[in-house]
Amino acid sequence: MKTDNILTQRADRVWLTEAACDLDDFRAEVERTTQLADYPHAAAVEKNILIYDSASVLKAAAFGEGRRAVLAEICEAFATGPGVVVLKRAFEDTAVIDAASGIFDDIINEQHRSNSGGGDHFAKPGANDRIWNSLEKHCLRDPQNFAAYYGNALIALVSEAWLGPSYQMTAQVNRVNPGGAAQSAHRDYHLGFQTSSVIEQFPDHVHRLSPVLTLQGAVAHCDMPLESGPTLFLPYSQTYVPGYLALKRQEFRDYFDRHHVQLPLEKGDLVFFNPALFHAAGTNRSEGIKRVANLLQVSSAFGRAMETVNRERMSAILYPALKAMLANGRLSSADAACAIASCAEGYSFPTNLDLDPPVGGLAPKTQAQLMHEALTGGWEEAAFTTALAAQSKKKLS
Ligand SMILES: [Fe+2]
Repeated sequence: MKTDNILTQRADRVWLTEAACDLDDFRAEVERTTQLADYPHAAAVEKNILIYDSASVLKAAAFGEGRRAVLAEICEAFATGPGVVVLKRAFEDTAVIDAASGIFDDIINEQHRSNSGGGDHFAKPGANDRIWNSLEKHCLRDPQNFAAYYGNALIALVSEAWLGPSYQMTAQVNRVNPGGAAQSAHRDYHLGFQTSSVIEQFPDHVHRLSPVLTLQGAVAHCDMPLESGPTLFLPYSQTYVPGYLALKRQEFRDYFDRHHVQLPLEKGDLVFFNPALFHAAGTNRSEGIKRVANLLQVSSAFGRAMETVNRERMSAILYPALKAMLANGRLSSADAACAIASCAEGYSFPTNLDLDPPVGGLAPKTQAQLMHEALTGGWEEAAFTTALAAQSKKKLS
């Protein structure tokens, strides 16, 4: 009898089920109030969400100890805090965003003309427009604008705070047109995109692993008053471990509908949140606002990103743009490093260790390291693309 108890209790600990989710347990996690005093770098708490002033964050993070403190604060805001932060005025020059919006409009118009792309797993066709892998499309069309856009110290800082170095950037544009309906409450990739029967096959520690493999972000490409439907969030909901399964149950969805919060955003603001936070895009009730956000999905070096990105092709296109912008002072070398981190592969593996052995360390040279080396050495474009191709070839089995 005693043995039976041990077996059952252990199985219940390891195998989370939709049936075992409990709304009272959930409420004990989420019904908390964010204290500004716990987050000394934040400027304010609004609707339980932390608001940061981007210039102050950069100033505080400019040097060693300050940077450690800022990264740690943001890391804990995602892990055990409200799970969502807003960085106001993260783009000093919003002309960079306007130029990117123009590129995205062109891509969307081409998708309409050719009847291709843009399918959305949440919305009816036509209610909104999607650009999948906007990262690569943006880089290939306008590498200079890509460099200015992703050469953003705040995107790099927050990504590193949650994922560490060598993260993999991916991005998708979402344009919700007036009348576009709200999404249903969800968690994001990885486990967030599976059915209960699949999720229940993963042991408890994988439910804890999924949220640390990615970080969700959004760049506001226009002002987003509440009537335009900026994202709905339920702060602290990322801390409920069985939450991937709980979201399949009506009482949890009802709770989200009653208790979610929503903040207006301005063009140039960044929002980042733990992918396990319960959230949903809101309904666009405005008359004429096409709500455009570039959704950043940043993956851990150790995870598998959701989208296939041809980083070799992007790096080849970006290299001459970076070289020119560094030469004429339009980009600092620190910002160029942020742009490289969003473009090139920053991690050594997987590779073919027969052909690509580690040199002077334990890990073979990465695409990002090669790009830094070429920029520092002032390589010609052709020399860089040749080296890039040779490096990619060595990684094949
Ligand atoms: Fe989402």
